[in-house]
Amino acid sequence: METQTAVRANGGLEGVIAAETRLSMVDGERGELIVAGHRLEQLAGRTFEDVLALLWDAAGHSGSRVRAAALRASTLALLRDAAARRVAPMDALRMAAGTLTAEDDAEAAHLLVGSFPTIVAAYARLLRGEEPLAPRESLGLAANYLYMSSGSEPHAELVRGLETYLTTVADHGFNASTFTARVIVSTGSDFVSAVTGAIGALKGPLHGGAPGPALDMVFEIGDASRAESVLRRKLEGGERLMGFGHRIYKVRDPRADVLAAAAARMFSRAGDLELYELARAVETKALELLEEYKPGRRIKTNVEFYTALLLCGLDLDTAFFAPTFAIGRVAGWTAHCFEQRALGRLIRPQSAYVGRIPA
Ligand code: ACO
Repeated sequence: METQTAVRANGGLEGVIAAETRLSMVDGERGELIVAGHRLEQLAGRTFEDVLALLWDAAGHSGSRVRAAALRASTLALLRDAAARRVAPMDALRMAAGTLTAEDDAEAAHLLVGSFPTIVAAYARLLRGEEPLAPRESLGLAANYLYMSSGSEPHAELVRGLETYLTTVADHGFNASTFTARVIVSTGSDFVSAVTGAIGALKGPLHGGAPGPALDMVFEIGDASRAESVLRRKLEGGERLMGFGHRIYKVRDPRADVLAAAAARMFSRAGDLELYELARAVETKALELLEEYKPGRRIKTNVEFYTALLLCGLDLDTAFFAPTFAIGRVAGWTAHCFEQRALGRLIRPQSAYVGRIPA
């Protein structure tokens, strides 16, 4: 059997520069993240809408402020049916996003960013057997999401915690879901298709699906004295510790620090730091053991570990962690869609055939 093996493929595309972007820069060696010309730390205190505007502006699109969008009857009907079948929240978001239609890119971008909080909150309520709520004109996207999920206007500290989360995850270089969105737009397809594909990429546990399992791990440990034995068992069984490791960051993910500080603020306000302190103890032990079991791999805490803690402090169910990530990341996805549209170049790499060559 003859095969063609002259060209070796880089299956994970590590180190491949696939585009130029003005949207964000991830420096994995220095632990730095720049979003639309601002260091992550400089975005503290900005609203999600501010960061969205910065990203769209950097992508060459200036639009009016995005407001939470009410759902069309057809989207709501789909969510009701999905809830009756207990469809997973990330799948329900993908299905509902696919029902959106727009005349042009700008309308689609507004509709996508404005609809995500409404879709996710409506679905959370439907799964609990409650009626979805319409967004309130007076509230921004973060506050509206919390209001539409819980049914009461949220405390300012909770809104601040969620704003910090959404702005922190709004964009992050050429991650898998962003790349997916750009590939779809590069074919001349529309933004709704691109973002629907991106949701599918974000869902996987190696990308946006990690924070739920990261929190489950902390709960499973339950007490700092058990951290070592539980973590050793996982590592010896070949399991990955969720919330640790990153393709780009080889030092601590700077987003973890921002989110840890926001989580500490939120838990202090609630007067109960027990879970926060347990998470810190688990993190310390995990880092020590990862160095022991995977020496030289430089596996550090990633964004998902403290995402889990922060979103738990917001009283969100773990199944809604990844959809909440999507509410933030859709800012970056749509900005990248604008940037890719302006570039107007089909993304089409090659593969190395390693199959049989017929005689
Ligand atoms: N726990 C234990 N071992 C790990 C972990 C981890 N969290 N992460 C990497 N490793 C090990 C691998 O087993 C591998 O070891 P080996 O060479 O002895 O087989 C080595 O480190 C390299 O792993 P790769 O998978 O090649 O590294 P990659 O760059 O692809 O990994 C990834 C990045 C996928 C995020 C990985 O670290 C991981 O699976 N982490 C856990 C899941 C997670 O937290 N995902 C969220 C990522 S952040 C985000 O997307 C927003």
